[in-house]
Amino acid sequence: MDATLAMTGAEADQDFKLTSADFERVRKLIYQRAGISLHAGKQAMVYSRLSRRLREGGMDSFAQYLSWLESTRGAESEAEWQEFVNCLTTNLTAFFREDHHFSALAEDLRARAARPIRLWCNAASTGEEPYSLAMTVVESLGVSAQVQLVCSDIDTKVLANAQRGVYAADARGLSPERLRRHFIRGTGKNSGFIRVKPELARLIEFRSFNLMNTSWAGLGEHFDLVFCRNVMIYFDGPTQLKVLERMHATMRPGALLYVGHSENFSEARHLFRLRGKTIYERV
Ligand SMILES: C[S@@+](CC[C@H](N)C(=O)[O-])C[C@H]1O[C@@H](n2cnc3c(N)ncnc32)[C@H](O)[C@@H]1O
Repeated sequence: MDATLAMTGAEADQDFKLTSADFERVRKLIYQRAGISLHAGKQAMVYSRLSRRLREGGMDSFAQYLSWLESTRGAESEAEWQEFVNCLTTNLTAFFREDHHFSALAEDLRARAARPIRLWCNAASTGEEPYSLAMTVVESLGVSAQVQLVCSDIDTKVLANAQRGVYAADARGLSPERLRRHFIRGTGKNSGFIRVKPELARLIEFRSFNLMNTSWAGLGEHFDLVFCRNVMIYFDGPTQLKVLERMHATMRPGALLYVGHSENFSEARHLFRLRGKTIYERV
């Protein structure tokens, strides 16, 4: 078979060709960097996400771009590696996504309120999830709650959006009451947008963090509640287990791990036992 992938009419107009060998290289590199297993059949996604990087870098082909990435050292290449990762992550999220977790969280927060609580929202994407956690904290424990919320993601672009805390006024998942209570409405050129109130923002510490890091020391320990939702679906079984082992080490015994609706960690029973619908307790 020709190394060039079969092209549709639309692909025939493309500036570059993504060969099977290029696609396999991208798969290998994103797996090594971010643990993400890209499925066969994601060629169109890889093309649409990465071709801009080739254009902006003045590259003639994917092969040239990937060789540059692999062979160059220093700040410029580190910055491009970050762009490469940012391009290939999938950041779909929403306020109060899987809302049963937030009623459970309110109860879990109240049960632990006798002492300061450490929460970690990882793979936090553009911020809707950590702000949903922060709203739940304020609604259940008040604005002066002794809660520290660490929010992280590998993707620096989405993390910057999260830190900005600005969203479309018709963002999915926000009730009119929560809109009024937790957000400031933009006016003039900012109309149609909302910004989170400082009392929510002050609870959150933003960090760029790759779950593939071998050292997790910088995060601190003793998390009481951890949200790790809809990211492990991109990892294979051995990678998931490695992440769960490291996560386990950052959590107090009895701490809770909230995971996405299609995630199931029954192979890590020695680390986490199922406590509720997609909520695990650290053993
Ligand atoms: C689909 S979003 C999930 C967002 C949110 N947790 C939710 O459930 O709505 C997946 C997020 O995982 C992040 N991610 C992917 N690989 C990662 C890694 N190795 N370390 C940290 N975050 C990662 C992506 O950047 C992306 O923002």
